[in-house]
Amino acid sequence: MSEIHIPELSLVVLIGISGSGKSTFAERAFGPFEAVSSDHCRGLVSGDTTDQAATADAFDLLYYLVGKRLDRGLLTVVDATNVTRQARAGLVRLARDHDVLPAAIVLDVGTEVAVARNAARRDRSFGAGVVRRKAADLRQSIRRLKKEGFRSVHVLHGVEEIQDATIVRDR
Ligand code: GTP
Ligand code: MG
Repeated sequence: MSEIHIPELSLVVLIGISGSGKSTFAERAFGPFEAVSSDHCRGLVSGDTTDQAATADAFDLLYYLVGKRLDRGLLTVVDATNVTRQARAGLVRLARDHDVLPAAIVLDVGTEVAVARNAARRDRSFGAGVVRRKAADLRQSIRRLKKEGFRSVHVLHGVEEIQDATIVRDR
């Protein structure tokens, strides 16, 4: 069992391709209101959690929610793919603007596992090509995360490591 140590007040940024298990991990490892999901925000602004045309409004809402929570001194988890440097840069800035430490947790499940899971999902219709491209993007970015400003970087490799990981909050 591996322990992931994070400061009690952190902005936890989950990073992983679609199907890597971010939402499942967030539900198991964090409290019911701690994770803010981009898909949930898409649903709130458009009525459809998969509506890609609602992305800009969904992220406006996500940033607003996360900012309010951080101002209240509440640990917050961002459940979005965060595979691009641009997406992560915005969240590092958001954490800094609220005097909170950003922590990265990478769910590196293996591309074929994610592709197979997504094929079995009714709420996802991404082609395997898209998922494979994103997996390649992610592999490139893992070693740069510290330089991007994340105070701590935790990379979980494979299904078992992801399932076994537990979160420890340091005061
Ligand atoms: P997106 O929201 O599309 O970015 O995906 P996600 O990273 O949030 O993945 P999610 O947690 O929704 O998991 C995708 C699928 O894999 C779901 O059907 C889950 O039930 C399944 N899944 C996630 N984690 C595990 C796991 O540890 N074991 C098994 N067997 N299935 C898992
Ligand atoms: Mg999800």
